[in-house]
Amino acid sequence: MDQDIAEITASHDTGNYPVKIGKGILAEALLSAAKLFRDPAAVIVSSRVFDLHENAIIESLSGLSEYEIIKFDDSEKNKSYAYAEKILEAFIRSGISRRSGVIGIGGGVTGDFAGFLAGTYMRGIPLIHVPTTLLAMVDSSIGGKVAVNLSVGKNIVGVFHQPSMVIADLDFLTSLPYHEMANGITEAFKHGLLGDMETLEILKQNNQSSINDASTLNKLVRRSVAFKASIVERDNKESGLRAVLNYGHTVGHALESITEHAGVSHGQAVAYGMLVKSGAGLAAGMLRKEEVNLIRDIIYKYCLIKEIPKINIDELITHMVFDKKTEARQPKFVLLDGIGKPVWNKTIDEDLLKAECHKALTVGSGAQC
Ligand SMILES: NC(=O)c1ccc[n+]([C@@H]2O[C@H](COP(=O)([O-])OP(=O)(O)OC[C@H]3O[C@@H](n4cnc5c(N)ncnc54)[C@H](O)[C@@H]3O)[C@@H](O)[C@H]2O)c1
Repeated sequence: MDQDIAEITASHDTGNYPVKIGKGILAEALLSAAKLFRDPAAVIVSSRVFDLHENAIIESLSGLSEYEIIKFDDSEKNKSYAYAEKILEAFIRSGISRRSGVIGIGGGVTGDFAGFLAGTYMRGIPLIHVPTTLLAMVDSSIGGKVAVNLSVGKNIVGVFHQPSMVIADLDFLTSLPYHEMANGITEAFKHGLLGDMETLEILKQNNQSSINDASTLNKLVRRSVAFKASIVERDNKESGLRAVLNYGHTVGHALESITEHAGVSHGQAVAYGMLVKSGAGLAAGMLRKEEVNLIRDIIYKYCLIKEIPKINIDELITHMVFDKKTEARQPKFVLLDGIGKPVWNKTIDEDLLKAECHKALTVGSGAQC
């Protein structure tokens, strides 16, 4: 078993922060973070994660002189502006000051929520992310985007607030169900398609069971964090290059919106988006048949799409038009001009887009999960 502890430095406009990756590293890493807090720390912890890892969490927090645990029932419903307001008021009552800080322990929902609290309370206090899902480790904890939902849409109210440290303790992943792992594999796969060839190689060489091996996971998380950090570093505020990270997401968000109650996860929706884009890329002569086959093979092998309910493609396209990142009602996409060569701000002919959305439904349902 690989007990290696890696530290990757993620840079941003005004500084940088360490991303610590390894097994059983939470206590040691939190100890080094203790100096950030001169007043009690607010620990926002996913209730589920707390139930599963209570001893390790409590033991790790013992290095902090004072802290207040706030258990968070981590649903998209609770990742809301209204709920954030309640917790911010509770911060005042608990003596959380501008010399305090927030530690978010959980998946991307908890991280976004805790990050929003840290980014807005008293104009911003230090934040430590402790991601506990693969998706949060390879994606949402890196880059400083934090947001909460309004009843009219996801992630509508947010700020850029960079963490002071990210601690990816792989021990948390031992309790994560495979369908949640798959959401993280999709985002890591996205990094591979955008140019992270080592991640692509790891995914090619492994399968659903071997990917859980501790040293393989360690490598996958390290590679993916380094790749995302390298993109964000060059474009902190998403004015250009960072847009490539939305590969598969315009279609994915639309699918998530129209299947809101039908259990299509974010990862599955993005994987569907990748299938649509790869089909469009093939039709436009940007991707070769072997490249499209590779994309399908990985999606099937890791069961990144389970089952997509019947959807109305016109409705799907309407949702793309109204995506919050769409300008002038013209959806723009990230496409691959060959694997590893993303291009962004591209339009797709509407007839081709419709045809590929239909085709991806059939291709997607070919996955045996
Ligand atoms: N800020 C960003 O840049 C960014 C990027 C991507 C996604 N996101 C956000 O991330 C969220 C999705 O994150 P997610 O996929 O981690 O979902 P999540 O936080 O909802 O976690 C998924 C499920 O796994 C459970 N869980 C978490 N850790 C666990 C563990 N170690 N063992 C067992 N169960 C565990 C949670 O309780 C939850 O039920 C979305 O809200 C999305 O908007 C943000």
